[in-house]
Amino acid sequence: MVTRLLLFVVLLLPNFVSCSDAVDFLYNGFRGANLTLDGTAAVTSDGLLRLTNATMPEKSHAFYPDPVRFKINRSSGGASSFSSTFVFGIVPEFSGLMSGHGIALVLSPTQDFHTAIGSQYMGLFNLSSNGKPFNHVVAVELDTVQNPEFSDINANHVGVDIDGMSSITSQRAGYYVNGELQNLNLTSGNSFQAWVEYDGESNQLNVTIAPMGMIKPATPLLSRAINLSRVIFEHMYVGFSSSSDTFRTIHYIQGWSFMTNGTARELDLASLPRLPRRRRKKNPIALVIGLPAGALVAVLAMASALVVVLRRRARFSQMLEDWELAYGPQRFQYRDLYKATQGFRDAEVLGAGGSGTVYRGVLASSKEEVAIKRVCHGSRQGMRAFVAEVACLGRVRHRNLVRLLGYCRREGEFLLVYDFMPNGSLDKFLFDRRSSTLGWSCRFGIIRGVASGLLYLHEEWEQVVIHRDVKASNVLLDGDFNGRLGDFGLARLYDRGTDPQTTHVVGTMGYLAPEIPRTGKSTKATDVFAFGVFLLEVACGRRPVEPRAAEDEVLLVDWVLACWSRGEILEAADPRLGGAYVTEEMEMVLKLGLLCCDPLPAARPGIRRAVQILCGDVPLPKFSSNYLNSSVMALLENEVFGGVSLEEYPVNSDTVSFLSASRH
Ligand SMILES: *[C@@H]1O[C@H](CO)[C@@H](O)[C@H](O)[C@H]1NC(C)=O
Ligand SMILES: *[C@@H]1O[C@H](CO)[C@@H](O)[C@H](O)[C@H]1NC(C)=O
Ligand SMILES: *[C@@H]1O[C@H](CO)[C@@H](O)[C@H](O)[C@H]1NC(C)=O
Ligand SMILES: *[C@@H]1O[C@H](CO)[C@@H](O)[C@H](O)[C@H]1NC(C)=O
Ligand SMILES: *[C@@H]1O[C@H](CO)[C@@H](O)[C@H](O)[C@H]1NC(C)=O
Ligand SMILES: *[C@@H]1O[C@H](CO)[C@@H](O)[C@H](O)[C@H]1NC(C)=O
Ligand SMILES: *[C@@H]1O[C@H](CO)[C@@H](O)[C@H](O)[C@H]1NC(C)=O
Ligand SMILES: *[C@@H]1O[C@H](CO)[C@@H](O)[C@H](O)[C@H]1NC(C)=O
Repeated sequence: MVTRLLLFVVLLLPNFVSCSDAVDFLYNGFRGANLTLDGTAAVTSDGLLRLTNATMPEKSHAFYPDPVRFKINRSSGGASSFSSTFVFGIVPEFSGLMSGHGIALVLSPTQDFHTAIGSQYMGLFNLSSNGKPFNHVVAVELDTVQNPEFSDINANHVGVDIDGMSSITSQRAGYYVNGELQNLNLTSGNSFQAWVEYDGESNQLNVTIAPMGMIKPATPLLSRAINLSRVIFEHMYVGFSSSSDTFRTIHYIQGWSFMTNGTARELDLASLPRLPRRRRKKNPIALVIGLPAGALVAVLAMASALVVVLRRRARFSQMLEDWELAYGPQRFQYRDLYKATQGFRDAEVLGAGGSGTVYRGVLASSKEEVAIKRVCHGSRQGMRAFVAEVACLGRVRHRNLVRLLGYCRREGEFLLVYDFMPNGSLDKFLFDRRSSTLGWSCRFGIIRGVASGLLYLHEEWEQVVIHRDVKASNVLLDGDFNGRLGDFGLARLYDRGTDPQTTHVVGTMGYLAPEIPRTGKSTKATDVFAFGVFLLEVACGRRPVEPRAAEDEVLLVDWVLACWSRGEILEAADPRLGGAYVTEEMEMVLKLGLLCCDPLPAARPGIRRAVQILCGDVPLPKFSSNYLNSSVMALLENEVFGGVSLEEYPVNSDTVSFLSASRH
């Protein structure tokens, strides 16, 4: 008996001593669990930890409430071993197309992520903090969107992220059986188990995933030698981070166990809360058939109700085809948009142009302010491809791009829903003498912002997006006067009622690169040309074409060039600035504008180079005013206008389009 008791104590003692600092917790479901939640994270009544549920870009976090000790001595020694396992499920509302961004298991010195961005940053970093060693964040990501800016390998992978979203190692989701990688589909809506293990002695981090119920595969999916001591502080919080997007995806954690200095306890899989079954739409017809035939009165009442409903329907009718169901949350109900704008009242009109009328609205569901653009379209040809494009562009997220929230289709009409920008468009501040103007630092900030937005479209997003219509009136200002480029990729739509197959030139007079009428194609270089004109507009406070000006001042590009040839380029600066600008910046913007307007596409800088120049990372290449001499400009003028007098074109900010064939 005594020996038994002794043995008991001996067995308990070392355990107890090392446990004083070691952390060990286990959640078989989260009912009543004390976690620190933020964003959309919540524990459901079933005990599921639901990280996201929104159709809006949201971020959410769920942390174990107390900091976990990872080092015994603050100033020396390596990080402790740790091990964790959890069961998760990612349930996209509409399978197949697009989903939210996934889940990450996170070790972080803080639980406060209010400055982080959701979407592709998974609620962990923002543009300036991403990749910076001061973060001290270790994350294991289950990533379901491919973000080329982080060199993601595909839209279904597992990666290890240190201080930034570019993984130090990653692998397509799967598990090894006899050395062969079996694929897993993270967004299939099924439950999977993940194991994350770090050995503080050998400095090895292993990540393994498998379908729930399978025993842990012997070979980890990822195994990486890394000394986390540099990253991990003495105390860190552990938890999950997730972000959703316009496509409703629900990220669930069903159970979680964690331990420092040991192997995390096994989850009791049988007792974990189940993922909810996917809802199927009920068939209302079944209900009607089920009614007893005798209830004639009821049927009559229903019939008259039906008439009312049908009448209402006609008013709110919208076009919807089977394939569109997949676009889910990107598709708005016409009824909702009608209500949001109080029936498209004139009082709600924000602006009208060649491309359509824009209304202000407030969505009843979210109380969110939006801008709704109504565009006419005639043909239904190519509509499917076009809607796919809209859905795709709806996923573009950048702080210098106006977010496209979704669309709605009606007979002969297309509605696009955007984020509302309280300060309206930039052209008002530049050209409207009744409006106050913007100072130079604000203008320079807008220029840099627009450049970075365009860079994102051209080179950093998953597909190359050609804007096709860069101009001051397409630059909108948010509450803080940050410039955001709107209407990207969509200029083709405004080419109303025509066959999308024929080559059309789309853009706005004065911003069109000279090669466009010849080739009929918009390219990155034509966007850069328009960006160059935009730079001059902002610096000079003048429209690109002023038909009423003296002959040699009609074209803005020509005029700036003439000022430079006289050796007085600063004369081109907007007089409304009253000389209050940084001379070097003004000169750089004017010259860069001219460089981007080079008639030869190959001579224009790429947008990345333009951004580097604007940020002062790279000096402006040396070139003189002769380089773009006026004879070349004359050629440009002839090509653009093809001998047609200017009066035939609307030279305001409206988008115009014309058939290239008719000009040659
Ligand atoms: C983990 O175990 C090592 C070796 O036994 C010990 O030095 C360290 O203090 C332990 N760490 C924690 C957090 O308990
Ligand atoms: C949850 O944990 C925190 C941190 O340990 C503690 O302060 C708080 O009292 C706990 N809340 C409940 C309801 O147990
Ligand atoms: C999503 O979360 C919000 C905030 O936690 C909640 O109000 C809303 O009811 C949830 N929506 C669904 C569909 O569960
Ligand atoms: C922590 O490390 C420092 C420097 O190596 C050493 O002087 C100190 O005694 C250590 N403290 C503990 C509690 O081990
Ligand atoms: C890991 O880094 C820590 C701190 O930089 C150092 O003390 C430790 O010796 C390193 N471990 C190995 C195995 O290199
Ligand atoms: C993953 O599963 C979803 C839902 O079943 C399916 O729509 C999608 O195509 C699958 N993805 C891959 C890469 O197999
Ligand atoms: C980005 O995150 C860092 C660190 O969390 C924070 O200090 C900084 O203010 C954030 N920047 C922005 C623009 O929110
Ligand atoms: C990681 O995986 C390797 C290779 O399978 C294995 O030898 C090692 O023990 C594992 N380390 C941990 C911490 O699980």
